[in-house]
Formats: sequence, C-alpha cells, structure tokens
Amino acid sequence: MSEQEKLIAAAIAARQNAHAPYSNFRVGAAVRAKSGRIYTGCNVENSTYGLTVCAERVAIFKAVSEGERGFEAAAVCTDAEMLTPPCGACRQILWEFCGDIEVTLSNLAGKTETHRMSALFPRPFDSSFL
Ligand code: THU
Repeated sequence: MSEQEKLIAAAIAARQNAHAPYSNFRVGAAVRAKSGRIYTGCNVENSTYGLTVCAERVAIFKAVSEGERGFEAAAVCTDAEMLTPPCGACRQILWEFCGDIEVTLSNLAGKTETHRMSALFPRPFDSSFL
C-alpha cells in the first residue's frame, strides 16, 4: 500500500466515527506529519449547528495538540459521488499548519483526486502579512 493509500484508508476509518446526526454527511480526514505519524479526524456536529467542527480541523488540531509541526499530506473521505473539498475555514487552517501540501479527496467507491493547497486556496492570508 502506498503512503497515499494509507492516508486514504485512515480517513475512511476515521469517517466511521463521525458524529453527524443533523446533516447525515459523514466525513473522515487524515494528515501525515513530518514525524511520519498519521492523525485522523471526523466531523463532530452539535445540536446548535454552528459549533460543528469539520473532520480536517479535528485531525490538524489533534496533531498540533500532540506537538506536531509540519505536515506532508492530507486526505479527506466522504460517501459523495462528487468528491468533497475542504471548506474555506479548513483551507485556512490547513494553510497555517501545512502550507502547500497535496490534499487527496476520496470517496467510498474508490474515486480519488489530488490537489495542491495552492490551487485550492489561492492568495491566502498568512503570517507573512503580519
Ligand atoms: N464537513 C467536513 O467535515 N469537512 C468538509 O470538508 C466539508 C464539510 C462537515 C461539516 C458538517 O458536519 C457536514 O460536513 C455538512 O456540512
């Protein structure tokens, strides 16, 4: 199994833990840190709706809170025919911690697409403006 396939498999497994009773849209994400460790996340919804956190941010925040800095790649998995890209908020967070990595979108049917962050998130605001 390639490193990319492992990351997709981790995102698929994490998706199983999604707490998505409101949207029924289950998302899994995985990021590979420069340490080689893979961190996963799922979407965690809330009855107030607005407090929902996406799978990508859960994965990144888990990794950062464990002391990781620097990431090599990310993967996102849903069960949608049209592959699901990270939302705007998640793109900002991915840029902050990962920079111009490749993000692989995938679904349970085995369809995949890989995009660089610079294509998904052109002209980002980041610390270089501060
Ligand atoms: N969601 C994610 O977890 N990641 C994405 O990339 C897109 C959206 C979640 C948020 C919410 O729980 C559900 O999908 C529907 O928007």
